[in-house]
Amino acid sequence: MVRMNEFEYNQLSSSSKQLSPFIHQVGGHSSIFQYDKNTICKILAPSELDFYQSMPESLKNYTSEFRGIVTVQYCEDESGLIKLVARRQKNSFDDDSLSDEQDMPSPNDPQSSDSMARKSVQLRCSKDGSIDYSNSLGIDIANYEQGKTIMSTINPWSLQLCKKQAEKLHSQLVGDENVSVSQKYILLENVTARFHNPCILDLKMGKRQYADVDSDKKRQSKIKKSESSTSSKLGVRLCGMQVYQIDSCRYIFTDKYRGRMLNIEEFCSSLVQYFDNGSTQRIDVISGIIERLEALHVIISSLVKYRFYGGSLLIVYDGSVNSKCIDVRMIDFAHTISAKTNDDESSMCHSDPDKGYLHGLESLIGIFRDILNNGGKNTVGIEPEK
Ligand SMILES: Nc1ncnc2c1ncn2[C@@H]1O[C@H](COP(=O)(O)OP(=O)(O)OP(=O)(O)O)[C@@H](O)[C@H]1O
Ligand SMILES: [Mg+2]
Repeated sequence: MVRMNEFEYNQLSSSSKQLSPFIHQVGGHSSIFQYDKNTICKILAPSELDFYQSMPESLKNYTSEFRGIVTVQYCEDESGLIKLVARRQKNSFDDDSLSDEQDMPSPNDPQSSDSMARKSVQLRCSKDGSIDYSNSLGIDIANYEQGKTIMSTINPWSLQLCKKQAEKLHSQLVGDENVSVSQKYILLENVTARFHNPCILDLKMGKRQYADVDSDKKRQSKIKKSESSTSSKLGVRLCGMQVYQIDSCRYIFTDKYRGRMLNIEEFCSSLVQYFDNGSTQRIDVISGIIERLEALHVIISSLVKYRFYGGSLLIVYDGSVNSKCIDVRMIDFAHTISAKTNDDESSMCHSDPDKGYLHGLESLIGIFRDILNNGGKNTVGIEPEK
C-alpha cells in the first residue's frame, strides 16, 4: 500500500498535481477528475487518444482541446485520506496552456459558487477498508437513488463514481504492501470552466452506440438500450443533466438511467426542464444553442468515413441570469471510427457522413426551435417533472 507521510506529500506537490473529483460530471461510466480549473482528466482509451491526436481541423471548435497525458497514482496518507496524484508524461505535450495561474478558483471568489463545495470533497479510507467522503457529502450519496431526478448542491453522480473508483483502486492495493496503483489519463479542456453555474446536458447521439470491435454481448446490450429509448427514434437520448435553480442555489440532477426510460414526450419535457431555473424559462439562451447545432450539422455532413458511435453532445449554458454564455461540444470518442482507422476493409460500410449523428442533431434542432417558438412552454402536452 502506498502510504505517505507529510514530508513525502510535500515532495509530491512540487512535481505533480493533486486531483479532485470533477463535480460537474453529469454522465459517463468512469470517474472524471479535475486537474486544474480549466482542465479535466479522463482514463486513457487508446482509440479516444488516437482521435484527439488526428482530429479533422473542422471539428476543433466543437471538441475539447487535448492537453496531454498524465500518470495518476493512488495514495492514502497515514490518517486514511485518499489522494490521487497526477504526473505529466515527459514530452507528451507543450505545457504552455497549463500554468498555475489557471489553478482552482479562489475560495474568496464570490462568483465561484461551487469553490467551497469542491474544497470539501475529500475521500477517506477507514481502518476497516470502507471508503467514504470525509464529511456530510456522504449523506448526499447515500440518499441518491439511480433513475430518480433529485435536487442537490453537489452532483451525486460525480461523487458516486469517484467513490467507486477509489474503492476499486483501494481493493487493488489491499494485500500487497509494496504495490502502487497507477493509471494513464488524458487531459482535456474543461468545457464548463467559464460558467459560474453550469447547466449541462449530456446527449448520447446516434441510433447505434456499439463499436465495430465490441463483443456480441456488448453489441446486444447497446442495441437493447437504443431500442428501448429515444435513441432508436430520435437518434439521441439523455445521458445526464444538471439545471441550476436560482432560488435555492441548488441543481436538479437527472442521470442516464432516467434518461434511458424517457419516451419521446418525456424527452421533450426534459429539454423544457433544462431551461427552467425554477423562476423563469431561460429562452434567451436557446437561439445561440440552435445556431451552434446547425453549424455542427454542416460540419458533420462534410465528414465522410467518420462514425461517432457512443459519442455525446455536451450542451452548457450559464445558470447565472445575467450571463448568456452557451457552449455545444462533442465529447466521448472512445468508439469513434475516423477516416484514418476506417481502412479499405471497412470503408465500404462507412464511406458517407454519419447519418445517425445527423438525425440526432436534426431532432434536437427541431425540439429546441419548438421550445423557442412556444416561449419555453412544453408543446407536447406533458408537464415537465417536478
Ligand atoms: N471536456 C469536458 N469538459 C467538461 N465536462 C466533460 C468533458 N468531457 C466529459 N465531461 C463530463 O464527463 C461526463 C462523462 O464523459 P464521457 O462521456 O467522455 O465519459 P465515458 O465514461 O466515456 O462515457 P460513456 O459511459 O458514455 O462511455 C460527461 O457527461 C460530462 O459531464
Ligand atoms: Mg459518454
